Amino acid sequence: MAKGLVPSWSETQGQVVLITGAGSGIGRAAAELFAERGALVVAADRSESGAETAEKIRAAGGTACFVRADVSVETEVEAMVAITLDRYGALDAAFNNAGVAPPVGPLETIGAADWERALAVNLRGVWLCMKYELAVMVPRRAGSIVNTSSVAGVAGCPGSAGYAAAKHGVVGLTRSAAAEHGRHGVRVNAIAPGLTETGMLRHLRDIEHLDVAGAAAGTPLGRIAEPREIAEAAYWLASPRASFVTGHVLSVDGGETAAP
Ligand SMILES: NC(=O)c1ccc[n+]([C@@H]2O[C@H](COP(=O)([O-])OP(=O)(O)OC[C@H]3O[C@@H](n4cnc5c(N)ncnc54)[C@H](O)[C@@H]3O)[C@@H](O)[C@H]2O)c1
Repeated sequence: MAKGLVPSWSETQGQVVLITGAGSGIGRAAAELFAERGALVVAADRSESGAETAEKIRAAGGTACFVRADVSVETEVEAMVAITLDRYGALDAAFNNAGVAPPVGPLETIGAADWERALAVNLRGVWLCMKYELAVMVPRRAGSIVNTSSVAGVAGCPGSAGYAAAKHGVVGLTRSAAAEHGRHGVRVNAIAPGLTETGMLRHLRDIEHLDVAGAAAGTPLGRIAEPREIAEAAYWLASPRASFVTGHVLSVDGGETAAP
């Protein structure tokens, strides 16, 4: 965040925003983007890298704190939301973004432990976060939640069936919560990113030896996204700019799902 680029006013000025998976990739880019636009950011992550994100934001003149939390552990999620309220006194928006990529392989080769882990973080984690966020937002009759699904949440993903099952589940959670709580002043949406240059993508490229460049070359925009491009979509959905949008799953995938 360059000095001088902080606007004097924005829709998210002074808003409290909780972001999970904020230590890397899309979550870190989103934390920086919200902070640039005046939000008070809670950068949550299970790893210490979330502290680096918060430090970077503060060094650039923004407001942020780190909360260590594993989104698959209910007590840690409950504490994460409680700390947010203690620290900043509100919870205006949440970006439930933490996720992991399980080992790649055909469905019949998936081990039970890898299946459980994929679901625990990518689906149960989003549910737990929404559970405690909604408990704050619904009584206050205000709030906006954005969940991170994936291209693998709107189409099948050969070699990643467990991940795809979890990301499809995020879409179901998002739409159901939007329907339950629209009348309570809370909007709930999801983004469905395509291939994005993050730690997860590096893992798929370097450890799983997937041809991510080749896959990206076959999409309409023909390239891999930068994390900031995904964060912009999450920002828009979370902010009052999207005030009449709820229950929506926004593809941010360079056209991948438009021309499979
Ligand atoms: N990179 C892509 O191509 C891509 C595409 C579609 C969707 N996504 C989704 O985007 C989200 C962000 O991933 P990314 O690509 O930025 O990856 P990343 O690995 O760079 O960042 C993920 C962050 O989540 C944190 N995290 C993992 N498990 C956690 C847990 N249990 N509790 C709290 N924090 C946890 C990690 O420590 C890390 O900081 C994920 O939900 C991922 O599934 C990524």
